Amino acid sequence: MSTDNSSDYTRPSVPLHNGPQMPLLGFGTWQIPNEEAAAATGFALEAGYRHVDTATGYGNETGVGKAIAASGLARDSVFVTTKMPPDHVGRERQTLEESLTKLGLDRVDLWLVHWPPNKQATPQAWEQFVRAQQDGLATSIGVSNYSIEQIDELIAATGVAPAVNQIKWGPGLFDQAVLDGLSERGVVLEGYSPLRVTPLDDPTLVEIAAAHDATTAQVIIAWHVRHGIVVIPKSSRQERIVANAAGVRVELSDDEVARIDKLSTV
Ligand SMILES: NC(=O)c1ccc[n+]([C@@H]2O[C@H](COP(=O)([O-])OP(=O)(O)OC[C@H]3O[C@@H](n4cnc5c(N)ncnc54)[C@H](OP(=O)(O)O)[C@@H]3O)[C@@H](O)[C@H]2O)c1
Repeated sequence: MSTDNSSDYTRPSVPLHNGPQMPLLGFGTWQIPNEEAAAATGFALEAGYRHVDTATGYGNETGVGKAIAASGLARDSVFVTTKMPPDHVGRERQTLEESLTKLGLDRVDLWLVHWPPNKQATPQAWEQFVRAQQDGLATSIGVSNYSIEQIDELIAATGVAPAVNQIKWGPGLFDQAVLDGLSERGVVLEGYSPLRVTPLDDPTLVEIAAAHDATTAQVIIAWHVRHGIVVIPKSSRQERIVANAAGVRVELSDDEVARIDKLSTV
C-alpha cells in the first residue's frame, strides 16, 4: 500500500467553488473509536478511497492521521475533512491547530462548522474560518447541518459562500429544492448517513440492486454519485468498506435514478 495506484474511486469528483476537486466518495469515520480508526481508515485507503471525513467531536483524528501517514500516499492525493464542534466558537483557530496536530498534517482540505452554534448561523465563527483558509490551514471551508437561510446569512455577512454543506441525505430525504438552492449558491451538497436514511431492504432498491448484481448499499452510493452529491459511507468492517466503494462503479439508468428519487418522504 505504499503507492497511489490512482484507483477509479477517486475519479468521480466535484469542483468546489474556490477551485479544488472533491472526490464524491469519502470514508465516514463517526463512531469509529480512535484505537480502531487507523485500521479502518487504512482499509479504506487500501481499497481506493482518497477522501476521509472526521471531526474533532469524533475523537479519532489521531487514528485517522496515523493511517494517512502509514499509507505512504502523497498528501495531495488524499482529501481530508474535519469539523469544529459548535461550542468551540471563540477558539476556532486553536481547535483547528489541535486537529492538525492530531492528524499530523499542516492543512486540511476541508474544515466544516459541525452544527450551527446555538442553532444560529454565527457569522463571527465563519469569519474565523475565512481567516484560517486565507492563512492556508484549510484549503476549503464549509458548514454542516446548515439551512439555506443560514448559509445566506454567512454570505451576506462575509461575501464568502461555504464550499460545502454536509447534511443528512439519502433517497428517503431527496429534496430537489435543497439540491438546487445549494447549487445556485455554489455550495456542494455532501450527504451523510447515506446507509441509515433509507432501509437497505427497500423493495425498489432490492430490485435495482438485483438488476446490477450489486448490493442495495452500492446502489445508494451510485445514486449519490449520479446526482453529483458527495457520499461518505462508514463501516468498520473491511469487506463492507471494500464493497461500498465499488458502488461508484454501478451505472444506474436515468429511469432507475428517477425511481430512487421517488423514495423520498420529504
Ligand atoms: N456532519 C454531521 O453532523 C454528521 C452526522 C452523521 C454522520 N456524519 C458523517 O457521515 C458518515 C456516514 O454516516 P453514518 O456513519 O451516520 O452512517 P452510514 O455510513 O450511512 O451507515 C453506517 C452504518 O451502516 C453500516 N454499514 C456500512 N456498510 C454497510 C453495508 N454495506 N451493508 C449494511 N450495513 C452497512 C455500518 O455498520 P458497520 O460499521 O458494522 O459496517 C454502520 O452501522 C459518518 O461516519 C460521518 O463521517 C456526519
